Amino acid sequence: MLILEKLIIDGGTRLCGEVKLQGAKNSVLPILAASILCDDECYIDNCPRLSDCNVSMRIIRHLGKSAYRDGGSVIIGNEEITKNDIPEDMMREMRSSITFLGAIIAKMGEAKISLPGGCELGPRPIDIHISALKQMGVDISENHGLIECKVRDKLRGAMIALPYPSVGATENIILAAVLAKGTTIISNAAKEPEIVDLTIFLRSCGAKIIGAGESTVIICGVESLSGAYHKVIPDRIEAISYMSAIAITGGTGEVIGVLPEHIMAVIPIFEESGCKLQSTDSGLSITAPERLGAVKYIRTMPYPAFPTDAQAIIMALMAQSMGTSVFVETVFSGRYKHIAELQRMGANIKAEDRVAVVSGVERLSGASVSATDLRGGAALVIAALGADGRSEISNIHYIDRGYENIEGKLKKLGACIARVNS
Ligand code: UD1
Repeated sequence: MLILEKLIIDGGTRLCGEVKLQGAKNSVLPILAASILCDDECYIDNCPRLSDCNVSMRIIRHLGKSAYRDGGSVIIGNEEITKNDIPEDMMREMRSSITFLGAIIAKMGEAKISLPGGCELGPRPIDIHISALKQMGVDISENHGLIECKVRDKLRGAMIALPYPSVGATENIILAAVLAKGTTIISNAAKEPEIVDLTIFLRSCGAKIIGAGESTVIICGVESLSGAYHKVIPDRIEAISYMSAIAITGGTGEVIGVLPEHIMAVIPIFEESGCKLQSTDSGLSITAPERLGAVKYIRTMPYPAFPTDAQAIIMALMAQSMGTSVFVETVFSGRYKHIAELQRMGANIKAEDRVAVVSGVERLSGASVSATDLRGGAALVIAALGADGRSEISNIHYIDRGYENIEGKLKKLGACIARVNS
């Protein structure tokens, strides 16, 4: 039975203290998908307790491997996978399930999946994935939302020029190419740190990959992959979220584990708003001013530019800043759904198409709002922490897709927050 829960937040408390980051959601999900390629046991450390990780483990078990938790780690067994499909309910729950496609094809020679679900961020097509897999020798047909893939003769390496540096497509191609015959060269590949983390895991298992993190990635197919121990990198979007939570309350704190080089496009935004940042032995400290200044212009773009995943979060900050900030969302067309909810809290935001103009107000006011997607939900939590009075945030299953124990971590920083059954 689905238990509907809410977060109740009494805003206005200055947050202070330390917060420790979880492993990166966007890293662990493709790594779990990659584990089905391995002949031996895989031990994935720093695996966050997220509903999306649970869905990945269910998919792995459905395919025929064992997958279980051991504290902060997930262990994937050495069994052979025996199935080539992903049931529709699992595909619907999580868009990242598409990353299993390349891995299932590489292992089984065929795959059957339905179109993926996940957060509603506007149309999220998979044409780049499909076209790349076709170039690698896969016949693909699409009927009534079901995608059927079959390797014609042998999965083979190919020269693949991506029309856009899609993160998911780059991951899917890598997962298919590691066991394909010959060499695959991806140009205009995504450069996100999570792609690098995936390839570090695969290389520990014996894959031959060079260039991850750059725009050309070269993969030489191998016969088989062993298993490996791998520690997932810290979650850079979670880091930005807690930095924002501290900043909107005029607080001071330390984010433990953050790798500043992963958030280079966001650090200047905090500085422009008046926050003082200092790298420490274990992460980054942040001290916010009494009231944040506006930042002039934010344009989301593929890494290393400003991440689309941080857009809603920084917008919540700017909603309570001194001045006007302009946002341009270039990655996903439907990623402004949080604006209507922020407006319920008194935010002054005008949006048209891909542009949003945020005129900061002195103080947001607590309200009953509803999370519209994962990062939009996090933005509402941040707005509520800065707001005057009580907020009730519903639909928090979206937030649980990407944040482990968000209320516990915020409580430790001094926030008045509680999770209740609604
Ligand atoms: C995207 C983000 C990633 C973020 C993740 C979760 C970018 C470039 N990617 O990854 O950083 O962590 O969301 O929120 O910022 N597209 C197509 N056809 C395809 C695949 C993608 O048109 O086959 C388009 C998408 O509609 C979107 C853009 O390309 O407009 C980026 O998509 P992609 O990087 O694939 O998305 P995710 O892998 O979900």
